[in-house]
Amino acid sequence: MALPAPSPSTTALVTGASSGIGADLARELAGRGHGVVLVARRGDRLEALAEELRDAHGIRADVLTCDLTDPAARDALPGRIGALGLTVDILVNNAGYGSAGQFVDLDLAAETDMVRLNCEAVVALSGAYAPAMVQRGDGAILVVASSAGMQPIPGQATYAASKAFALAFAEALHEELGHRGVAVTALCPGPVDTEFAARAGLEEAFASVPSFARVSAEACARQAIDGLARNKRVVTPGLPTRAVAVAGRHTPRSVLLPLMRRFYPV
Ligand SMILES: NC(=O)c1ccc[n+]([C@@H]2O[C@H](COP(=O)([O-])OP(=O)(O)OC[C@H]3O[C@@H](n4cnc5c(N)ncnc54)[C@H](OP(=O)(O)O)[C@@H]3O)[C@@H](O)[C@H]2O)c1
Repeated sequence: MALPAPSPSTTALVTGASSGIGADLARELAGRGHGVVLVARRGDRLEALAEELRDAHGIRADVLTCDLTDPAARDALPGRIGALGLTVDILVNNAGYGSAGQFVDLDLAAETDMVRLNCEAVVALSGAYAPAMVQRGDGAILVVASSAGMQPIPGQATYAASKAFALAFAEALHEELGHRGVAVTALCPGPVDTEFAARAGLEEAFASVPSFARVSAEACARQAIDGLARNKRVVTPGLPTRAVAVAGRHTPRSVLLPLMRRFYPV
């Protein structure tokens, strides 16, 4: 299976394209000739990226600002893209954020909004576009999950659970849609230097990660789109993250959770 061929009437919708991994996913897709629709809240950032991509690759790049935690705004997005005369043949569910701390101490509204963004928006946008992709027998969906979704994480309870949801959802869709012409891949990065750590309050924890265990957003995006083009079920960039992911998935919870509570730096 390959990615849908680029055409003037089709586009790759990239959520969370205003920074970090999402911006590099948009760069990677544009570099392969795909038009892009860039979505996030910070329109100035999106406009700057759209201009960069048009200049560098001669592709069509559109900007739509949207707060994806707002169900009405999110559900209006497909209509806004349709009004541009574009068909979404690649969907990149990337927008997301995390938090860190004891659940009882965290801001509850931010935790529930996180579930809306990291889980609900992924289901809603996939549901908006997957049926037409299946009908065409052609399409691709990338879900940006996380190595944090491989196991529960005391100190990041909601974030890890939200990414476990995203991972399980993508893996199931991969199995449902792969034989119907639609590639579905879960991207599960470990630590990547973006604005994520600052927003999550994880700067200190990220600073303690050795450089060999980090992957750049650019490399992460390249490996993700390579994997999507081959309809890989899961892409986990970097050997150290793959090792941690295997341990997270297969160590008995009764052993893993007390260890994480003791040694996880949150
Ligand atoms: N960095 C890591 O170590 C790491 C590791 C594993 C997984 N991930 C995942 O990778 C994805 C991208 O994160 P990143 O590392 O690139 O972080 P980032 O630099 O903070 O980017 C997050 C993106 O999500 C967008 N976003 C946040 N809230 C939004 C909302 N309510 N509506 C629409 N867009 C929203 C942000 O745009 P606006 O603020 O402009 O709206 C931004 O474009 C996330 O799903 C994250 O969980 C990151």
